[in-house]
Amino acid sequence: MSVSAQSPILLFDSGVGGLSVLAEVRKALPQARVIYAADLAGLPYGAKSEAQIAARVAGLLGRMSERYRPRLACIACNTASTIALGMVRDVLEIPVVGTVPAIKPAAAMSKSGVIGLLGTEATIRQPYVDNLEREFAAGKHLLRFAAPGLVEAAEAKLRGEPVDRAAIEAAVKGLRAMPGGEKIDTVVLACTHFPLLAEELSAAFGPDVRLVDGATGIARRIASLTGGEQFENAEGDLAVTTGDIESLQALAPALADLGIRRLERF
Ligand code: DGL
Repeated sequence: MSVSAQSPILLFDSGVGGLSVLAEVRKALPQARVIYAADLAGLPYGAKSEAQIAARVAGLLGRMSERYRPRLACIACNTASTIALGMVRDVLEIPVVGTVPAIKPAAAMSKSGVIGLLGTEATIRQPYVDNLEREFAAGKHLLRFAAPGLVEAAEAKLRGEPVDRAAIEAAVKGLRAMPGGEKIDTVVLACTHFPLLAEELSAAFGPDVRLVDGATGIARRIASLTGGEQFENAEGDLAVTTGDIESLQALAPALADLGIRRLERF
């Protein structure tokens, strides 16, 4: 495939989570044209089965790649990446960057050796996470907790609605209540929605807990894979959704903050 200066980078998530990744991509590649795809008709992924997520994500990314001809696709979603990254790479003919839980940097940072991990129900049960734990957190304790309420809380926050304090409390208390949970000093935000609530989560965990996510590493990886390519954004950025256009329009101010003003239904 030939890459032109206008060829976009495609960022894909079930909803607004990928915007936490887009914010870092903007810093690394300010000239790049971006298409942000939110599968709002499929949200939340965390409650779906592996087979449903794999079929949906591979199918959508295949169709989106044909329509938008991106130079690179980023699955800006831990749930989709830990389940379907290999399959999507088999389907697409462009580089595909995944978003996987930042267990490696968290293990390097933790002094107590007890690391918390917040993700969706689907992410925390993935063998992909078992492998990361085995490879990078051997000798540490990794406590995994599913916090699906935070996905909805992040979506609501970006629609300009008040943040659901109960969802924040449930996530923090749930992790703390696990055996050894009081020793947690580092928490992996293993869902791209969760950094959008970093302020609220940080206040609830207190000053002794560090929150870690993968967004800057992903942006670095995208910059490195597109190193030497030309970027131009005369056509402007675009956000698309599989859901109804009203749901996407409710996010217009949050998208405009990241430079995206054209919204369409996929
Ligand atoms: N943003 C997605 C992730 O990183 C999950 C949200 C959902 O459940 O759809 O895991």
